[in-house]
Amino acid sequence: MSEKELFERAVKAKEYAYVPYSNFRVGAAVLTKDGKIYTGCNVECASFGGTNCAERTAIFKAISEGNRDFEAIAIASDNGAFTFPCGICRQVIFEFGKDIKIIVGDGYGKIKVIPIEELLPYGFSGEDLNK
Ligand code: THU
Repeated sequence: MSEKELFERAVKAKEYAYVPYSNFRVGAAVLTKDGKIYTGCNVECASFGGTNCAERTAIFKAISEGNRDFEAIAIASDNGAFTFPCGICRQVIFEFGKDIKIIVGDGYGKIKVIPIEELLPYGFSGEDLNK
């Protein structure tokens, strides 16, 4: 599975985004180390705090189905620019591996690949709890 192909899965995943408040559709696709893909979209809520981002939808789907070894996660939106994960999603991605690759695209064929550790420098993790 190439980075571009995973990104295309994220593009497709935003089809089901439930975004009546922001109208900002986001799709995500997680690739596991054994080659499985879990996709997700953002799901909004009239009580805004109940909103779940696309990245966490995809990750929680994978984890709840017994797979938590992640290689990469791709993220797509409609805005014609690179959409990077929000702070909460960065923390959740970091929880499952400091070297997970974040794949973003601009929708015009340009792709960027950046390890989560670079998006969350000095990130807090379970290791800190045991010091
Ligand atoms: N959103 C995501 O799904 N992922 C991101 O990385 C950025 C933000 C969603 C949350 C909300 O539904 C909408 O985008 C606007 O913030």
